[in-house]
Amino acid sequence: MDRGVNAEESQLRSLRTEDGSFSLFSPAVGEAFHSGRGALAEARSKFVAPAALERWRPGQRLRVVDVGVGTGSNSAALLEAVADAGLELEWWGLELDHEPLRLALADAGFCGQWRPEALQRLQQLCNGAQMLWGDARERLPQLLDQRRGQIDLVLMDAFSPSRCPQLWSVEFLGGLAALLQPEGRLLTYCSAAAVRQGLRLAGLEIASIAAPSGLRAQRSDWSGGTAASPTPLGDDPRLRPLSPMELEHLNTNAAEPYRDPTGRASRSTILQERQRRQRQQLAGGAVEATSSWRRRWGLESGAGHPQ
Ligand SMILES: C[S@@+](CC[C@H](N)C(=O)[O-])C[C@H]1O[C@@H](n2cnc3c(N)ncnc32)[C@H](O)[C@@H]1O
Repeated sequence: MDRGVNAEESQLRSLRTEDGSFSLFSPAVGEAFHSGRGALAEARSKFVAPAALERWRPGQRLRVVDVGVGTGSNSAALLEAVADAGLELEWWGLELDHEPLRLALADAGFCGQWRPEALQRLQQLCNGAQMLWGDARERLPQLLDQRRGQIDLVLMDAFSPSRCPQLWSVEFLGGLAALLQPEGRLLTYCSAAAVRQGLRLAGLEIASIAAPSGLRAQRSDWSGGTAASPTPLGDDPRLRPLSPMELEHLNTNAAEPYRDPTGRASRSTILQERQRRQRQQLAGGAVEATSSWRRRWGLESGAGHPQ
C-alpha cells in the first residue's frame, strides 16, 4: 500500500489500497478510511453484497443512509449495484468533513474507478439537500423525523470504535436502528463485541458478514463485519449466525458498550466512562476478561477497521 501522496491543505493523505482503489489515511485519527487490502473490495463485500439487493424487484425504491460518507466509495459501489438491479434510490448521507469527498473527486484514479453515471450521481447526491453535513449525532434526529422505520439500508462506516466511539454508542446505534423498516439492514465492517452488544441493546438481531476469502488474511479476521436488522436475518449465503467464539466474545468485558446519553460527549469521556464500567464488571466477576477469551481461541489482535 502506498501512503506517500500528500494532499495539499489537508491532513488527510491519499493512498492506493492493494486492489488499486483509492483511499485516505487520517493522521489525526490514526486510521485509514478502508481496509488496506482494498477500498473497493471492502465496499462491495461488506456493504453491497450483504445488502442483498435481489430482495427488491426492478423499479422498486431503495432507501439508504450512508453514515460517514467520506470519499463516497460505499455509496458509489451501491449506486452501480442499484443501477444493475434496476432500482430507484433515495439516499441520505451523514458526514462531518467535506475534505474526503473533495480529495476523492479530485483524484483521477478515484474517478476512473466508477462508471461515469455512478460518479455523476454520487456528485449530485453529495451536493444535494439530503447530504446532511455536520456531526451525525446532531443530524440524525432530523432524519428520524422524516424517515423513522422506513430505511432499507444503513451503511455504517464510522472510524473504528476506539477512534470514534461517538458514532458507536448505544444511543447513536439506537437512533440508526429506529430508522430501519422491519426487514431493513444496518451493515458495518465492524465486528467489535461492544458494537454488536450495542446493536442488540438497540433491539436488533445480528449476524456475521461472511469474511470474503480475499480479505481474510489473519486468524483474527474471523468475520467480515456485522449485519443487523429488526427481524431475524434468515437464510443468506453472505451472512451466518455468530459462531460460538463470537457469542462468547459478547460475554467478555470487550462487550461493554459505548454510552453517550447526552449525544454530545467527547471521545475521551466516552472511552473513560466505558473503562470505568469495565473495571467494575471485572472486579465483580460479572464477565470474563477478553484477554483470556483471546488466549482460549488463539487470537492475536483487535477487531477494529482492518488495516
Ligand atoms: C472510515 S471513514 C468513512 C469512509 C467512507 N465510508 C468511504 O467510503 O470513504 C469515517 C468517516 O466518518 C466521518 N466522521 C467522523 N466523525 C463524524 C461525526 N461525528 N459525524 C459524521 N461523520 C463523522 C469522517 O470524516 C470520515 O469521513
